[in-house]
Amino acid sequence: MENLHQERVAVTAVNPNMRSYEETYSSFQFEEVEKQFSWYETGKVNMAYELIDRHVHNGLSDKIALYYSDNARDEQYTFADLSKQSNRFANVLRKLGINKGERIFIFMPRTPELYFSLLGSLKVGAVVGPLFEAFMESAVKDRLLDSEAVAIVTTPALLGRIPRSELPSLKHIIVFGDEVEAGEGIVNFSSEMAQASEEAEIEWLGREDGLIIHYTSGSTGKPKGVFHVQNAMIQHYYTGKVVLDLKSDDIYWCTADPGWVTGTSYGIFAPWLNGASNVIRGGRFSPSDWYNTIQKYGVTVWYSAPTAFRMLMGAGDDTVKQFDLSSLRHVLSVGEPLNPEVVRWGLKVYNQRIHDTWWMTETGGQLICNYPSMEIKPGSMGKPLPGVQAAIIDDSGNELPPYRMGNLAIRTPWPSMMRKIWNNPSKYEEYFRLQGWYVSGDSAYQDEDGYFWFQGRIDDVINTSGERVGPFEVESKLVEHPAVAEAGVIGKPDPMRGEIIKAFISLREGYEASEELKQDIYKFVKEGLSAHAAPREIEFKDKLPKTRSGKIMRRVLKAWELSLPTGDLSTIED
Ligand code: PRX
Repeated sequence: MENLHQERVAVTAVNPNMRSYEETYSSFQFEEVEKQFSWYETGKVNMAYELIDRHVHNGLSDKIALYYSDNARDEQYTFADLSKQSNRFANVLRKLGINKGERIFIFMPRTPELYFSLLGSLKVGAVVGPLFEAFMESAVKDRLLDSEAVAIVTTPALLGRIPRSELPSLKHIIVFGDEVEAGEGIVNFSSEMAQASEEAEIEWLGREDGLIIHYTSGSTGKPKGVFHVQNAMIQHYYTGKVVLDLKSDDIYWCTADPGWVTGTSYGIFAPWLNGASNVIRGGRFSPSDWYNTIQKYGVTVWYSAPTAFRMLMGAGDDTVKQFDLSSLRHVLSVGEPLNPEVVRWGLKVYNQRIHDTWWMTETGGQLICNYPSMEIKPGSMGKPLPGVQAAIIDDSGNELPPYRMGNLAIRTPWPSMMRKIWNNPSKYEEYFRLQGWYVSGDSAYQDEDGYFWFQGRIDDVINTSGERVGPFEVESKLVEHPAVAEAGVIGKPDPMRGEIIKAFISLREGYEASEELKQDIYKFVKEGLSAHAAPREIEFKDKLPKTRSGKIMRRVLKAWELSLPTGDLSTIED
């Protein structure tokens, strides 16, 4: 423990050209940030304009905004190209009669068309809802129903997972792909885009008008629609400068999918607000493919996640040596605890400090970080950004001294704070139950230098490969399986994925425990909900521990799993 707090990696260890600590502080002038955006002059704003068209008007028309490749395509688009393509899509939406504030979902793999659609949706003032392509029917349905989405952009392969007859608000399905027959409610993306004009009116918005909804998991109930507004751009722009350290000649690569908030806040908003060239690599993870992406584009700033770094570490140092990664100058991580071992390995093989950053879907942007101008303590999430006040508080809201574990909380507000949970004001209020604090649901402690150290979730939310999975959602799917009477789901520690999903299941009368049944149940969740929510481990039990009111006690399941004391059992059924 002591050693953990003593280990430090200095700023100059690898790159003496980083923005200094003083520079970081002095650039923290909200007024300076605000001067960048339209509202400074007109009082109105539009994220898509600020991301793309603003640069076109400021002389960056021909700068490459997007480098896209997958195994079949290899393309690049300038800011002027993205401006035109998003204008076209805005016109497609206008023709369909889609208005400001309406929800449009984007359900497709990463391709340039995803980005055209998202930017075009923002141009008409719609609120976008990005979905992972891995989502299966019930996950898609829950999200579209809750938000009363009017349109969705998708591909032929995913079309079958959109249960149209059960979605009364959904008027338009815009399909990108060959051989799409336009018809009742079905719009062919390519032919509409071809007919649409490259010029479009921007829908000018107020700072508190809607921007994006990301659905994310809690420990109870269905996923929550976390709603963000245009004002978040201040945080995206600013953290793009002082955390990502983006400068005009950077080639930036964020490996996250826009289905996850990292793939929008830092895969779209922060880089383009800062006018950087953005790399998007489609397709699946593979170490040599990833290294090749860095080499091919000369990536300078790279933002990824601990699971990916652990897999790259697993692929071995020799794989690294086959590529020229010398363009890299700044590497960052988010989503789960970043093991000190991984930080040490990054120094060794990439000659880079991997900078951990902490934030959440709800916070909209980075809040606690190892920013480039500070010493890193491997294993720590870093320190609050200048202007952000973070603390460890007890359950009454009192601040705790160094080394006491408690609730990680942030003083409200900050520019990118969520503005509501869609359709669920009481869930929203729960986060702010302790006067003036946003309570994150994470537990952590602070050391005497003000560095924060992550300890775990306070609730039962599972973090598998950086993705948040709500146990309730998985349990609800499990009990739909004909063999399952009851199910309790926990996160089980895993060296590669952080946690994996483990389900404890009691069977209905007439069903026998077997390996085949486990396989079948796994498949059932994978195909009904999503692959990342499927339990990799299943254990059958005659009975599950429950409270007298019938709630499954996940804490007891977890204690069984980890061979820990089960704690207070006074509320358990006999
Ligand atoms: O538990 C924390 C973990 O991920 C949660 C937020 O997940 P999500 O909303 O999906 O957003 C992740 C991307 C912003 C947090 O409550 N988490 C996030 N970053 C870190 C982390 N845990 C440890 N260290 C981090 N740097």
